[in-house]
Amino acid sequence: MSNRRTFAIISHPDAGKTTLTEKLLLQGGAIHQAGEVKARGEARRARSDWMKIEQQRGISVTSSVMTFERDGVTFNLLDTPGHEDFSEDTYRTLTAVDSAIMVIDGAKGIESQTRKLFEVCRLRNVPIITFVNKVDREGRPLFEILDEVADALALDVSPQAAPLGMGGLFKGVLDFASETVSVPEGGSKEFLDTRKPFSELESDLSEELAEEIELARIGYPEFDLDAYRSGDLTPVYFGSALKNFGVTELIEAIARWAPPPRPQPAGEDQVSPDHDEVTGFIFKVQANMDPNHRDRIAFMRQVSGTFKRGMKLTPSGLGKPIAIHSPILFFAQDREIADTAEAGDIIGIPNHGTLRVGDTLSEKNDIRFTGLPNFAPEILRRVQLKDPTKTKQLRKALDDLSEEGVIQVFYPELGAQHIVGVVGQLQLEVLISRLSAEYKVEAALEAAPFATARWVKGPDAAMTEFENFNRANLAKDRDGDLVFMAKSPWDVGYQEEKNPDLKFSATKER
Ligand code: G4P
Repeated sequence: MSNRRTFAIISHPDAGKTTLTEKLLLQGGAIHQAGEVKARGEARRARSDWMKIEQQRGISVTSSVMTFERDGVTFNLLDTPGHEDFSEDTYRTLTAVDSAIMVIDGAKGIESQTRKLFEVCRLRNVPIITFVNKVDREGRPLFEILDEVADALALDVSPQAAPLGMGGLFKGVLDFASETVSVPEGGSKEFLDTRKPFSELESDLSEELAEEIELARIGYPEFDLDAYRSGDLTPVYFGSALKNFGVTELIEAIARWAPPPRPQPAGEDQVSPDHDEVTGFIFKVQANMDPNHRDRIAFMRQVSGTFKRGMKLTPSGLGKPIAIHSPILFFAQDREIADTAEAGDIIGIPNHGTLRVGDTLSEKNDIRFTGLPNFAPEILRRVQLKDPTKTKQLRKALDDLSEEGVIQVFYPELGAQHIVGVVGQLQLEVLISRLSAEYKVEAALEAAPFATARWVKGPDAAMTEFENFNRANLAKDRDGDLVFMAKSPWDVGYQEEKNPDLKFSATKER
C-alpha cells in the first residue's frame, strides 16, 4: 500500500490556509520556524514585476508543492491560489490531488470561494476532511456550523472533535477518538501540546456545554471510510491553526483515512498506480521562477510506476521522448534534485516550452489522461499593440502565456487582432504586466464584442456550413481548434438550436 498522501487545502481567503500550511509543515518537521512560509512567499514575490501584482493585492497567484514526512507517511501538499479571480489554475491543481482539507473560519462558515472549490472537488469525487478554524475566537455555535456544512454542501458530517467553549471561555479541543483534551497552556505563541484526559475536565463543564458535546458525539453519522472516500461524508475537526490546536489530529486523520494515489481516467480506461510503466500528467506550468533564466517548470503528477532520474518519457504533445535529467521535488525548504519518485508524487520538470498543461507523459507513449479541461473564458479582450513592429514578439508571448495557462488566446478567422480570454479579471493584469516585463511588448486591451466562447465540433458537412455562415465570429485556439465567439449566452443557445448536429462545448480537454 502506498504511503503517499497527495492533497490540497481549499478555503476562502483569510480562513487560515497559510497559517495551517505552516503548522502542517512544522508538524512534519519540514520547516523549523513558524512564519517561514509567508517569509519565503514574500521573498519570491519581490523578484519580478508581474509578481508585484500579487504583492499589491496580497494574494498568491503562483502555486507550489510542499513535501514532508511524518511517521513513515509522505505528504505532498499542493498549494492552490486562493483568490477568486484565479480559479482556472486552482481547478487544474485540484485535478492532481487525491483528497482535500476544507478550512472554514468558525465565525463565517461556508463562504463563496469555499463553495466553488468544493464543487470542483465534488465533480471529481475528491474526499474532504473539514477543519473548522479559529475556535480560539468567538465563533458560531457548534451545531450551526455542522448543520451549515451539511446543508450548504449536501454532505453527511461526522464530527470527530469539539471545542470546549469558544472565545474567552475556550478550554481546549476534545478529540472524540482518544477522549483527550488538548488544552491551552503557556503564552499565545507557545504550544506545549498538553493533553488531559477528558474525564478530568468533564465535571467542570457547564451543563449546557456538556449536553452540546454529547449531542455532537451521538447526533451525527458515525465516520464511514467508504462514504468519506466516495465524497459523501466529511469528518469534521475543530481547532486553531494560529494556536496549533487540533492540527496534529488533522494530519493524523489524513495519514489514516485520506486515499493513497487513486487511479486516473484515461479515456474509457483507468490507469492504476501499480501499473508498471511510469506515467503522469502536467497540471501546471510556471515560467520564470528565476527571472535570470527563461526556463519554465512543468509540474507533473505521477500516476504510476517508479520514476528514476535520467529516465526518458514521451510527452503526448511532442510525440518524441525527452530525457528528464534534473527533475525537482519541491521540499518545503528548497528545491531538491530528485532521484526517484512514486505514484502520487509531483515532479517539477525544467523545460523550454515543450511541455504544456494537459500533456500526458509516459514511457511507451500509449496513454492519454483525460479530465484536465480548459474552461470557456468569461472575459474576452482584443490585444492592441502600441508598437506595430512587435507583432512577432506578441504572438510568441501570447503562445507562451497560453501554454502556461495564464490566458487563452484566439486567432480570429477574419481580422488581425488577437483575442485573449480569461476566467478572471486579474489574469488580464498579469498578462499586460508580463508582456512588458518579460517580452518587452507594450500592449493595451480593448473591449471585444464577444461575451464568451465555445469549442465547436461535428460532422464535416455541418461544420463547413456553420463556418461559411459565421466566419466573422470564428477563431482558432492555440491548438488550431475551431472556436465560436459568442456575443452573449443567448447567442450560444441560438446557434445550438440552429445547428443540432454540432456540439458547442464550454470546456475543452486536450
Ligand atoms: P489565508 O491563507 O486563508 O488567506 O489566511 P491566513 O492564514 O493568512 O490567515 C488570515 C488571518 O487569520 C491572519 O491574521 C491569521 O493570523 C489569522 N488566523 C489564522 N488562523 C487563526 C486561528 O486559528 N485563530 C485566530 N484567532 N486567527 C487565525 P491577519 O491579522 O490577517 O494576519 P497576520 O498579520 O496575523 O499574519
